[in-house]
Amino acid sequence: MTDVDTSKLSWDEWDELQNPPPAETGFDRVVERAISRRGFLGGVLVLGSAAAAMGTLGNLMSSTSAQAQEAASRFQFKPVPIATDNTVHVPEGYSWQPLAKWGQPLFSNVPDVDPAKGVSLENSDKVFGENTDGMELFVIGGHQVIAINHEYVNPETNLPHTEKGVPQSADDVKILQNMQGVTVMEVAEGESGWQIVLDSPFNRRIHHNTPMKLSGPAAGSELVKTAADPNGTDCLGTFNNCGAGRTPWGTYLTCEENFNGYFGSTDANFALPEDYARYGITAETRYAYEKFDERFDVSKNPNEPRRAGYVVEIDPSSATSTPVKRTALGRIKHENAAVVVARDGRVVVYMGDDERGEFLYKYVSNGIYVPGGDTSKLLDEGTLHVAKFADDGTGEWLALTPETTGMKMDEICVFTRKAASKVGATTMDRPEWVAINPVAIEAYCALTNNSKRGIKKNAGGDEMPVGGPNPREKNEYGQIVRWYPENDDHADGKFKWDLFCMAGNPDVHKDAYAGSSNINSGNMFNSPDGMMFDSTGLLWIQTDGEDSNEGDFAGQGNNQMLAGDPATGRIARFLTAPKGAEVTGQTWSADKRTHFVGIQHPDAPFPDGEGKLPRSTVVAIKRDDNAMIG
Ligand code: FEO
Ligand code: CA
Ligand code: CA
Repeated sequence: MTDVDTSKLSWDEWDELQNPPPAETGFDRVVERAISRRGFLGGVLVLGSAAAAMGTLGNLMSSTSAQAQEAASRFQFKPVPIATDNTVHVPEGYSWQPLAKWGQPLFSNVPDVDPAKGVSLENSDKVFGENTDGMELFVIGGHQVIAINHEYVNPETNLPHTEKGVPQSADDVKILQNMQGVTVMEVAEGESGWQIVLDSPFNRRIHHNTPMKLSGPAAGSELVKTAADPNGTDCLGTFNNCGAGRTPWGTYLTCEENFNGYFGSTDANFALPEDYARYGITAETRYAYEKFDERFDVSKNPNEPRRAGYVVEIDPSSATSTPVKRTALGRIKHENAAVVVARDGRVVVYMGDDERGEFLYKYVSNGIYVPGGDTSKLLDEGTLHVAKFADDGTGEWLALTPETTGMKMDEICVFTRKAASKVGATTMDRPEWVAINPVAIEAYCALTNNSKRGIKKNAGGDEMPVGGPNPREKNEYGQIVRWYPENDDHADGKFKWDLFCMAGNPDVHKDAYAGSSNINSGNMFNSPDGMMFDSTGLLWIQTDGEDSNEGDFAGQGNNQMLAGDPATGRIARFLTAPKGAEVTGQTWSADKRTHFVGIQHPDAPFPDGEGKLPRSTVVAIKRDDNAMIG
C-alpha cells in the first residue's frame, strides 16, 4: 500500500499511516491558546506558583534550598551519565545480570535458541517470548513466580528464513503467535545469581491461541459472538500485552494495547464496520495473520477484533487456569492496570489508553474486597469512569453509564472510546503507565508525548487543545501528571492535580520545552512510559523515546530509567539502556534486594555481546552489598 519501510515504524506511526487523523484545527485559535498557555507556564516555572499545573512541586522547589534538598535526598545511588553504547549501565555499587532472554527455554527438554535460526515451531510455546514488557512477581507457597508480558514480535527476528519477516505459511504465523503473550515462570536466586527454574509446575506460556473466557457486561453480547463461539463467552488468545498490574487477591493483569494490528481483510472489497476506525483496524496488517489464519480475517469474522483490547486476569498459581478477559474495564489500547483498594474496600483500577488524544480511565467495583472472600465479580460489576481535567488544577471522573452515554452496557464496554468521547473527557498526550503511591493517597500517569497536540484531532475527531495537563503544543518530550483524590479516597469522583514533571531539554530550549524546574542537563530524558512505585514510595520512571542524542534530544542519550522522589520532586538517572532499546516493565524480588527490569527491542548486540544478535532481555539488578533496593 505504500513504499514506506513499515518494518521500522512504531505502532503509533503505523496507525497513523493506516488511518490519517481528521483535518487540522483552526490555526489561529491553536496559536492563541498555545501562547497564552505558554505565558502561564513560564510564570509557573520561574516563580513556582501554586496556581495550577506545577502547583505542589513549584512550592516545594521554591521553598526548599538546594542544600536542604541534597540533604533530604532519598536516592541511595550516584546518578549515571547518559550513554549511547550497546549495554546496560547502573550506578557504582550496583551490578546487573540477564535473567531471561528471547528464546530462552522454560523447560529442560528444550534447547536455547540459535538466534540466527530463530525458534522452531515445536519449541515456540515453551520458551521465553520476545519483547518483554510489564511484569509482576508473586510469592506462591514460598516460590517466586514472575508473570511477564511479551508485547509484540519483530517478525524478521522470529522468521529469519523469510523476506523481511513476512509469514509464508500457517506455521510461520503460529511461530509469531506463540512468541507473544505472557510467560509465567518460577525464578530463584542461587550461587550464580538469578535463574529461571526449568520445569517448574508454574512455568507456562500464554499466547495468541490460549483459550480464555470473556466476562463482564460484554460477555454473551451480539457484538462479540462468532461462528466458532456462538455464545460470545469463549475466545482465544491475548494480544499486544503491554503494561501489567496485580490484584490484592494475587492475580496478574495483562493489558492488551495495539490489538488492532493483528486483524486484517483478505477481501479488498469488504466494507470495514464503522467502529473499526476509532481503533485503527484496517484491511492491511504487518503480520499477515489473516492470510493463513481465518480467525484474523475480518471479512470472515468481523466480530473477532471486538474480543481484543481488554484487561485479562491470569491466576499465576495454576498453570492450567483459564485467563479471563474483564470487559467491564473497557476496550481501549490498554497500557497498564494500577489497582488500589478504596477506603470502603471497593476496588479501583486506573488505566491509560495509549494513543494521541485518548483518555485516562478509572474503574470502581460495586462490591468490596474482603481478603479470602469471593473476588470473582469484583472486576465484572462496577462503573467505568473517564477523567476530565480543568485548567484550575481540579478534575472529575465522569461515569460511563447508559444514562450518561446513551449507549447500552455492552456497547460501553466494547466501544469504550466512543462512550468517553460522548461525555467530554479530556484528550491526553498518550497516557502510558499509571502508578499509585503506596505511602500517600496520590497516583501518577506518564503522558509520553504527543507531536500532534494543538494541531490535530484524535482518531474520534475530538479536539486536542493545548492546556490543562497537556500544556505544550507539538509535545515531543512528555510529562507526568499526578492527582490527589478528594477526601483521600481513590473511589471519590473528584480530584486535584498537578504535573510532577515536564520532560524537556534545557540545553536546547529556554521556554516550556526546557522542561519543568526539576529537569536539568544532568537528568533530562524524553517520553516517560513505564512507571511503578517501589514499596518505599520512590517512583521508577522508564523511557521509550527518541534516542538519537541529536537536535532536540541532544544530551539525552539512550533510553533510561530514573528514580523520582514525590516529596521533593527530585529526579535522578539510575540506568541507561543499550542503543535502540526501550526500558519497560519492572518488579522486585520478595526480599526487595533485586530489581528486575525489562530491556525491550535492543538494536545493539545485547546482552550476548559484539557479533551476536540482539535479544530482548530481563535484567536482575542488585546492590553489591546486597542491601534492599526497593
Ligand atoms: Fe506498549 Fe504504550 O506502550
Ligand atoms: Ca509502554
Ligand atoms: Ca511508549
